[in-house]
Amino acid sequence: MDVTVFQSKPLKGELIIPSDKSISHRAAMFASLTGGRVEIVNYSRGADCISTLGILKSLGCRIEVFSDQRIVIDSSDAYRNDIYKLNCGNSGTSMRLFAGILASKEAESTLFGDSSLSRRPMKRIILPLELMGAKIKHSKYCAPLIIKGAELFPVSYKSPLASAQVKSCILLAGLNTYGETKVSEPFKSRNHTERLLEYMGADISVDGLTCKIRKSKLEPKEISVCGDISSAAFFLAAGAIVPDSDVILKNVGLNPTRTGIIDVLKNMGAQIEILDKKLVCNEEVGDIRIKFSCLKGVEIGGDIIPRLIDELPVIAVLASQAEGRTVVKDAADLRNKESDRIKCLVSELAKIGVLIQETEDGFIIEGKNKIHGGCTVECYHDHRLAMSLYVAGLVSKSPVLIKDFQWVDISFPEFLNYMNKLQS
Ligand code: S3P
Repeated sequence: MDVTVFQSKPLKGELIIPSDKSISHRAAMFASLTGGRVEIVNYSRGADCISTLGILKSLGCRIEVFSDQRIVIDSSDAYRNDIYKLNCGNSGTSMRLFAGILASKEAESTLFGDSSLSRRPMKRIILPLELMGAKIKHSKYCAPLIIKGAELFPVSYKSPLASAQVKSCILLAGLNTYGETKVSEPFKSRNHTERLLEYMGADISVDGLTCKIRKSKLEPKEISVCGDISSAAFFLAAGAIVPDSDVILKNVGLNPTRTGIIDVLKNMGAQIEILDKKLVCNEEVGDIRIKFSCLKGVEIGGDIIPRLIDELPVIAVLASQAEGRTVVKDAADLRNKESDRIKCLVSELAKIGVLIQETEDGFIIEGKNKIHGGCTVECYHDHRLAMSLYVAGLVSKSPVLIKDFQWVDISFPEFLNYMNKLQS
C-alpha cells in the first residue's frame, strides 16, 4: 500500500497511545512460563507481538484474544513437545528473547523469520548462550537458529553492547538455571524485563549496570501494558514541527530507560509537559502535552543512545526543522535494525530535501531547511522509517509518496487513523 502525505494543518486533540511493543512481548512470554492463566490488558495489535503469540501457540499455550485488547494465556500445557518450528516474522525481540527461554527447555526448537530478520546479527546472543552451555546451530550467526535445549550453567557476562534484547536473553536463560547468572552492560538499556520479572516474583536484583538472576518460578499475575513511547514519538515530533499544533498523548510509558526522546525535545527547546505520572505494573505511565515549538539543533551520543535508539529516525526529522546543526553519534547499532537505519534514513530524507550526511555511527543534519518533497520514498520494509517519513511529509512543500506503507503494521497498525484524528 502506497500512501501520499500532504502538508498538514495544525494537529490538535488527544490520543490514547496504543500498547507498548517491548512490554507486550515480555508480558506474553513471561505469562507462558507461569504454568497458569494470565490475563494481559492492552496487548499490542502490532504484527511483531502477534508473531510472539503465534510462537506461544506453537509451544502449546492456549490463547484467548478479546476485542478490547485483553488476552488470556493459559500455559498449563506449554513446552511439552520435543520439536518446535517457530516463526518470528520480522521480530528481533521474539527471536532473541525466545532463544534465551528455549536454550534450557528439553526440546529442539528452530527459530526462523522473514528475510530482514534472517539478515540481522544473532552472534550477540549466541556467544553468551554458548558460554552458558547452550547448543545452537546457525548459519554464520544468523537465523534460522536451531536450539537443542540443554541444562545451562550460570555465567557472569559482560555484554559489549547496551542491548535490552541481549540482556533479556541472558536473564531468561538464567531464570531456568541453578546458581546466579550475572549480566552487565556498558550503558543502561530498556529494563522492562527486569521490572516485569520482579513484578512476577523472580529472584532478580539490579545494581547499576549489572543484573543478577537465580532460577525462579513466575507467579501468574494480571499484567497491564501501557502505551508505547516509541509510537508516541511520531506524534511528539509531528506536534513539535507542524505550526500551531497542540497535542496531548495519554497513557504513555515513561520508564526512564525509554524517555531519551523527551530529554532531546527539551534540549531542542520544545514546549513539552508531563501532565500526570503513576506506576502501573512496575512501569511509570503518564500523559504528555506537546505544542509547536521553535527548535534548535543538539548533539546526541553516549549513554542516551539506548534510551532513544528506536526514535532516532524521527529525531532526524525533528532536527531538519531545528535551527543549526544536529549531530547523532555512537549509534552504529542502528545499522542492525529492521533496515540499515543510517543508510536508508539518509538516502530517503536527502531525496525530499533534508540536508543530512551519513557518518559511520550516526548522521549530521543542517537545519532549518525546507523539505520540498514532491517525490517517492522507500521505507525498506521498516515500520519506523515509514512513520518517520510520514512525519516529514507533514511539513513538506509538495506531497511525499511513501511506498509500501503497510510496514507500519509491524508496531503501529492504527497509525494513519491516529494521525487523521489529529487532523480532523
Ligand atoms: C527492544 C530493544 C531494542 C529496540 C527494539 C526492541 C526490546 O533493541 O531497538 O526495537 O524490546 O528489547 P536492542 O536492545 O537490541 O538495541
